[in-house]
This record gives sequence, C-alpha cells and structure tokens, in this order.
Amino acid sequence: MIDPFGRHVSYLRISVTDRCDFRCVYCMAEDMSFLPKADLLSLEEMERLCAAFIRMGVTKLRLTGGEPLVRRNVMSLIEGLGQYLGHGLEELTLTTNGSQLAKHAQGLAQAGVRRINVSLDTLDETKFARVTRWGRLGPVLEGIAAAKAAGLAIKINMVALKGVNDDEFDNMLAWCGREGLDLCLIETMPMGEVTHREETHLRLGDVRADLARRWTLLPSNYATGGPARYVTVEETGQKLGFITPFSHNFCESCNRVRLTCTGTLYMCLGQEDAVDLRKALRASTDDEALEAAINRGIAAKPKGHDFDIGRVAVPRHMSVTGG
Ligand code: 5AD
Ligand code: SF4
Repeated sequence: MIDPFGRHVSYLRISVTDRCDFRCVYCMAEDMSFLPKADLLSLEEMERLCAAFIRMGVTKLRLTGGEPLVRRNVMSLIEGLGQYLGHGLEELTLTTNGSQLAKHAQGLAQAGVRRINVSLDTLDETKFARVTRWGRLGPVLEGIAAAKAAGLAIKINMVALKGVNDDEFDNMLAWCGREGLDLCLIETMPMGEVTHREETHLRLGDVRADLARRWTLLPSNYATGGPARYVTVEETGQKLGFITPFSHNFCESCNRVRLTCTGTLYMCLGQEDAVDLRKALRASTDDEALEAAINRGIAAKPKGHDFDIGRVAVPRHMSVTGG
C-alpha cells in the first residue's frame, strides 16, 4: 500500500476499545463519554480486518486503546493475531497502561508478543494518582515486573508535563536504566478537549538539552519506524526517545494508519480524513468491498498533521484513535 506521497503503509494501529480504567488528565476529560457499545466491532471482525490488512502488506500491528487489556476477551484476539506471525505479520505489539499487565504478561508472551509499551508518567504514588485520576501505581509496577519476567522488552512512555513530572526525568532515566527498560518522552498533543493542556505543555528540546548536562546522550540510528528520535544513554546503556510533534515534524516518514474500535480508519492522528470499514466489512462475507475501502483510505492519507498547542486539532481524544 503506497499513499499519494509515496509512503509505504505497513503498520496498523488498532484501538480495541476507547474505554480505560484511568482518566489521565492530558488524555481524557473526567466525565468522558464513550462510543456506544453497540457500535463496537466484535473481536472476530477485528481479526478479519487485520487479516485483510496483512494480506495487503501490513507487517506490524499494535493494539492500543483506551486500555486494550480492559476489553473483554481481548486475549483471544491477541492469540488469534499471533497466528499470523511469520505469515505476513512480522511484529505484534501492545500499548498499555499496565494496570492489568500482571494478569496477562505471560499470555502475551505466549501469543508471540515480544515488545510492549507501558505508559508511566511518574514514579511517585501521589502524583500518579493525580495524573491518572483513577489509577494506582502499585499494580502498574507489578505489571512491569511480570512483563519483564515473561521476557517482554519494555519501553516506558512518559508524557512530559510542566509543573507535574518535569522534576522526575533524571530519576525516571536512572530507574529505567536499573530495570533494563527503554524510555520515550512525549510532548502532549492537542487531541480532544481536556483542561490545562497549554499550561502543562513542555518543549522536549529544552528537556533534552538539560539532560545532556548530566547524561552522555550518544547519537543512535535505532529507529522503530515510529515518530521517536532515539539516543543511547551511555551511563545506563538504555535507549531514550523523544516524540516532539511540534518542534520536529515526523510526518514525512509516516508508515501507519489507525483503526478505531468502531471500524473507522483514520489516516492521520491529527486529521479528520477517515473511511468507514465497518460498513464494508458487514456488507459482504467476501473481502472485496473491504479491500476497496482500505485502498480508498490509503489514497486519502494526508501529508501530515498541523498541530498547534493553542488549538484542539481534532475533537476526538487520543483514546479513540489510539496513542
Ligand atoms: N498527547 C500526548 N500523548 C498522549 N497520550 C494520551 N493522550 C495524549 C496526548 N493528548 C499518551 C499516553 C500513552 C500513549 C499511548 O499516548 O500516555 O503513553
Ligand atoms: Fe487511559 Fe492511556 Fe488515556 Fe491514561 S493516557 S486515560 S491510561 S488511554
């Protein structure tokens, strides 16, 4: 699949549910309303969709949310998708808040998952409760330990928030070093209405310059095909990534599209262009209409986002399209 700007689309991200057991302040409103359950794709439909994408050239799948592990029976989908590994699919990954990870780490590894991303913005219990509104740090740390024990490689995603966790970068970097985890710092992106987004926005260029005074940040050509730019931290041997949608445009090399839990395919995190795959999926049991709809989507992939922190770029929250 090649888009109008010559980019190969080989990566599909699927928000298996827009629901979450946390309410992170930068991600969700406190009183979020969620998509009606009746509109959800079934897990079988999601698998059929993924199979079509794999046939059409997708080699990497990532399940996101919301929190993917709160969707009922999600492990059956993950096991099903694991069957495609080595048969077109090269990598199956997951982004999770870690709350249910202790339960599922072993199952994930058995299904063929090798790497996961865990969102963790602070190692301070009180702050963790404040940022996630509903979350508790303990179970997340237990989940990370279980994932390590199951042999999964882990990258921590930390959203950088001025006045909230901007005094913790050194500590997080050292902890990740001790635990053998990579770390990726993320700038907040203007998706969906939340409170205080502008006040807490932090430019990662400044953070990086400051970290470089105390840590040796070696250039690295490590790339996951994602938007993060990586360095290796000499003192810990771990990687440190930066996702900077404002100070650095990562769109030129974008290789991905995103599916919501109701079957809408979005071609860009920060744009409204979309096609309804659920309709195509339900129109017929053969996949002709579905493949045509996917091709229509790829042909409409926009050049890039135009994020501006003072303005909400798209009304949908990150949990709908998947982070
Ligand atoms: N801006 C940046 N990152 C966000 N995330 C959720 N909402 C936003 C936002 N508005 C992060 C989560 C998670 C990843 C999937 O996206 O913390 O790490
Ligand atoms: Fe849930 Fe992740 Fe959003 Fe936090 S950032 S509310 S964990 S989906």
